[in-house]
Amino acid sequence: MYRFLIRPILFLLSPESIHHLLLSFLKILFTIPGVWPLVKRSYHIRNKALETDFLGLTFSNPVGLAAGFDKNAEIYREFYAFGFSFIEVGTITPKGQPGNDRPRSFRLKKDRGLINRMGFNNHGAAAAAARLARKRPSGLILGGNLGKNTLTPNEEAVDDYEAVFEAIYDGVDYFVVNVSCPNISDLRKLQDQDSLEKILVRLITLRDAKQIRKPLLLKISPDLNNQQLDETLEIVSRLKLDGIVATNTTIRREGLRTPGHEIKAIGPGGMSGAPLTERSLEVVRYIHEKSRGQLPIIAVGGIMNVRDALNMLDAGATLIQIYTGFIYEGPGLARRINRAILGRRLQESA
Ligand code: FNR
Repeated sequence: MYRFLIRPILFLLSPESIHHLLLSFLKILFTIPGVWPLVKRSYHIRNKALETDFLGLTFSNPVGLAAGFDKNAEIYREFYAFGFSFIEVGTITPKGQPGNDRPRSFRLKKDRGLINRMGFNNHGAAAAAARLARKRPSGLILGGNLGKNTLTPNEEAVDDYEAVFEAIYDGVDYFVVNVSCPNISDLRKLQDQDSLEKILVRLITLRDAKQIRKPLLLKISPDLNNQQLDETLEIVSRLKLDGIVATNTTIRREGLRTPGHEIKAIGPGGMSGAPLTERSLEVVRYIHEKSRGQLPIIAVGGIMNVRDALNMLDAGATLIQIYTGFIYEGPGLARRINRAILGRRLQESA
């Protein structure tokens, strides 16, 4: 029903307009008594065999909603009902900022992809922290995705990451350092060894002084070459970072069905969805093999169906996240993936 009836209507509007419209609609819909439990019952599969342990946390299933969907920590309760066990809020920056000029999000329908250059539009750390302090549904795990303000120079970026980390420490269960978004100028330079090490050391030191230890992960770009991946893995293992989120969006544009002139007219941005599937899978597999299975991985990038999800788990990921797949395949995707994973686990244990 979603693909043939709802999606064609939703796709009449720009991606960003429909995103905001949908969020507002769901917020209102879910205030009606009984709606939330009804939706949750329809989309969540409750089965012990789906439970997944990751970094000391028990996830009720291995499927999450990727960063960028709930940038302001305002809709995680509603989206939890659609079958996700965890939601990564953000990217959050210290101060609120408007992001890039619109339009800044584009569909590549022929490729089942998106290109976005949102530019960390968000309400800032204080607003997110206030929302994260509200009571949340039991069983929902929240990640906090950390970023820097666009105007903060890279030399001072470490202070921005610290500010957001401190502001939301009590409100989330794990953290992701985002230095891989292609839409903030020079942000990806923070993936260089020295800059990355500086940020990670600061956050690990702060975290280790806390009473409650929360996992810290790094989100990487699919555009790193093998040497850069090796360098990153060296730092991650030396600093004993908890894990990797692979991957963010890509700046590459190869092998698309969308005509070149349309791609050119869209301009810069990070591409997600089906055109990213193969590369993200390759990165996940590479990390898993290089780390000899020792590094916990959350896989994200081009998971559009059950097969893509299972491939990521087979490649070595423990958890997966979706974003563009949710837009193209609708709210049933997490449930379909979970059903397949459950079937597999039950078969394995039989
Ligand atoms: C994103 N993504 C993203 N990632 C992140 O770490 N911080 C962010 O703020 C955002 N914002 C964002 C906005 C939009 C419109 C999109 C499409 C994506 C990246 C996202 O979390 C994910 O890594 C990629 O989109 C790849 O996964 P999918 O979309 O192919 O499933």
